[in-house]
Amino acid sequence: MRAVHLLLAVIPCLRATAAFITSGGSWSSRRTSNGRVGIVLPGVASSSSPGTILHSVLEPGDTILVIGGTGGVGQLVTKKLQSRGLFSVRVSSRNKKRGEETIADSSVDVVELDLVGGSNADLEAAMEGVSGVVVATGTTAFPTLKWKNGNTPEAIDKLAVSRIAEAAAKGGSAKKVVLLTSIGVDRTKQMPFLVLNLFGVLDAKKSGEDAVKKAASRAGFDYAIIRPGRLIGGPFTNLDVAKLLQIEGGAENGVDIEAGDSLIGDCKRDACAEAVVQCLLNEDCKNVDFAIISNENKALTDPEWTKTFQQMGKR
Ligand SMILES: NC(=O)c1ccc[n+]([C@@H]2O[C@H](COP(=O)([O-])OP(=O)(O)OC[C@H]3O[C@@H](n4cnc5c(N)ncnc54)[C@H](OP(=O)(O)O)[C@@H]3O)[C@@H](O)[C@H]2O)c1
Repeated sequence: MRAVHLLLAVIPCLRATAAFITSGGSWSSRRTSNGRVGIVLPGVASSSSPGTILHSVLEPGDTILVIGGTGGVGQLVTKKLQSRGLFSVRVSSRNKKRGEETIADSSVDVVELDLVGGSNADLEAAMEGVSGVVVATGTTAFPTLKWKNGNTPEAIDKLAVSRIAEAAAKGGSAKKVVLLTSIGVDRTKQMPFLVLNLFGVLDAKKSGEDAVKKAASRAGFDYAIIRPGRLIGGPFTNLDVAKLLQIEGGAENGVDIEAGDSLIGDCKRDACAEAVVQCLLNEDCKNVDFAIISNENKALTDPEWTKTFQQMGKR
């Protein structure tokens, strides 16, 4: 009976959100124009040129853990990191076998970790010796099967992220944590975020962000918070309109990026994953939060990413 009530409550919300999301004209986007340790990159990412030098707090040989590396954005982050050939890449999944099948790369270390059912000891073991941490976990904003076994936004986006932040602080090896959240975390009284937040997903994500910021300032690691617009393009891992309609986005990987939470629009998973990797590797992406959406321009080059991060840092 409770489930029926929940469903009835949710249908209008889903309709409203879907209508808004698919209504093309109502979205607007704005474009902002925008070394110390040298790492020579083999130039594998679409926006990177061969031999480009970035400066990073991370060093070749460091271990990077992608929590949620089997998800849509997480898979792309994992591929991009692995193809750079500089780091030891570790991915967590609630099911090691399923995770290994999804990643399909024996050079990536897949570890089992359930952030709802598992213990702090499991989490600390997964984070053992990591220098970089990407948090790309998520569940659905509205009640779906993904909420099974307590996998709600409160559990994933708030409590689990807070535990990750604490474990990063406690472990002592983390140099940088990059957290994926969402546009709208600071605009929950405005449409369409008012609807999106009916079950508290944006509030939960905001709490997760605060936990990472606090742990970072206490323990002395760098953080970056990336707030993408509605995710489009494969892998279609979510249960939403973008998956139903297989909305791919344009051929280019251009992005609008703005510090804070003021952009609105769609973000290709590939563009979002590139931002995560760039942020992880670039020392200028330090202690910032920014929104990102896709546009039809060419992908940013590595120097353009650096310039974008530097301008953001001056804000
Ligand atoms: N969909 C959108 O339009 C949209 C818009 C803005 C922001 N976002 C956010 O962007 C992020 C990435 O989205 P996405 O579509 O790439 O995510 P996704 O495909 O739904 O991936 C979710 C990931 O979280 C992991 N996970 C879920 N529950 C877990 C648990 N209890 N313990 C450990 N890991 C768990 C899953 O791993 P296993 O299943 O392998 O365990 C999976 O790798 C999410 O935070 C999402 O909320 C989404």
